[in-house]
Amino acid sequence: MTRADAAADRTDPETRTAPSGSAGPAVRVLDGDGVRVAHGLFGSAIHMGGPVDDERWARTAPSYTPGRTFGVDDPAPVGEARLAGSATSFASALTVPGGARIPMAAVTRVGVRADRTRRGLLSALMTAQLRDSAARGEIAASLRATETAIYGRFGYGVATRGRDLRVPSRTPFRAGPSEGGDVRMVTGDEARTVLPEVYARAQARIPVPGVIERDEVWWGLSLDHPGRPAPAVAVHRSPTGPDDGYVVWTVTHEGPGFADNVLEVQDLQATTPAVLAALWRFVLGIDLVREVKARLRPIDDPLELFLTDPRAARTTGIVDETWLRLLDVPAALAARAWGDADPVRIRVHDRLLPGNEGVHVIGGSDAGTAAEGEADLECDVAALAMAYLGDRRPSELVASGWWSAHDPAAVTRADVLFATPTTPWSGTFF
Ligand SMILES: CC(C)(COP(=O)(O)OP(=O)(O)OC[C@H]1O[C@@H](n2cnc3c(N)ncnc32)[C@H](O)[C@@H]1OP(=O)(O)O)[C@@H](O)C(=O)NCCC(=O)NCCS
Repeated sequence: MTRADAAADRTDPETRTAPSGSAGPAVRVLDGDGVRVAHGLFGSAIHMGGPVDDERWARTAPSYTPGRTFGVDDPAPVGEARLAGSATSFASALTVPGGARIPMAAVTRVGVRADRTRRGLLSALMTAQLRDSAARGEIAASLRATETAIYGRFGYGVATRGRDLRVPSRTPFRAGPSEGGDVRMVTGDEARTVLPEVYARAQARIPVPGVIERDEVWWGLSLDHPGRPAPAVAVHRSPTGPDDGYVVWTVTHEGPGFADNVLEVQDLQATTPAVLAALWRFVLGIDLVREVKARLRPIDDPLELFLTDPRAARTTGIVDETWLRLLDVPAALAARAWGDADPVRIRVHDRLLPGNEGVHVIGGSDAGTAAEGEADLECDVAALAMAYLGDRRPSELVASGWWSAHDPAAVTRADVLFATPTTPWSGTFF
């Protein structure tokens, strides 16, 4: 039995507290001051602060959903510090191929005190959290990982990736179709009202697998985060229509001169490629900026295609974005649309949520049901997540050993079944 299995056995999913008297890390649901302590613990764990003052806590507390923060106590406490690790989540929804939105736990603020790491505390927290989310009826959980070595063991796989890029300011654009719109700077309440509307409009146009729901709290923190400089915001409007795109950015001073600034795009959403081009053109033309950079843009962001010199936009990294955990595999398989090929049968392994174990049908009207007969393909639940939104093709997962193929013909069919017309991307950091 692994340490995670042992922790799972000790955690009672009904009460979400560990039975008293059990050995090892006891997981409990935090409330009130416990959540505030957890917030400070997380800040320290990621080296970005620590305990917060009353004013800051008053603004931060609403971002914690009651009943969704788990804590684990120091198994060998010395002094007053009792809490040694914590993790929280909030309810969201994930767009899957075909456009359906499935209930999802957005997992965040995971940390273990530096003096108590590598003793199984995270394993206990993750196990309790996964079971809690599954019991809430959430079909998936997802997170953004500080390090790639942490979450695979809990069944998370990289399901979308993003592109980091840098472009010199004032890079010339090709003459392209112009929609003749206008870009205006907005602040405060206007930004808080307009941006969610434009975001919804952009998502409604083409469902992008991997997009998640942003709630009011998310918007509040992204536009006015305690302890961080407020970002600048500009909104695009076409001559005939409503607001149809926006860009949010911050600027850092990186040298002695007035123009030694780097502008970082935090969020850029557009309802059409022409609006996207107009917004890129706008940020690349802002005065007193040396370079524009962006993290986690879609892999297929067409920025290069807008430029006279496509090489001016340098890709500095293709990085993991969504770490996805399928909590209810049959429901997840039934929810997404599949390509046009005969179904395949896949055996899934899941040591933490055994309800997912078994052979499942992929594709067709029976997708997600238990399959008759032998499996064509086989993988762990984390490796299934890598293909689920369309990021990785089954054939590359078989070739690299993440999946096993018992019937080679099924691999070709699986490539067709899992393929998506749109490159998956989330675009939301949490
Ligand atoms: C990442 C973190 C939460 C791990 O907590 P932890 O209590 O040490 O984790 P556990 O002891 O339960 O580790 C379980 C397993 O994962 C491995 N592991 C955990 N964190 C790891 C890391 N950062 N790198 C490599 N392996 C790691 C452990 O070695 C252990 O492996 P084993 O079962 O083979 O022995 C903790 O190190 C931390 O708070 N780090 C800084 C903050 C952070 O990065 N948080 C994540 C935010 S997304």
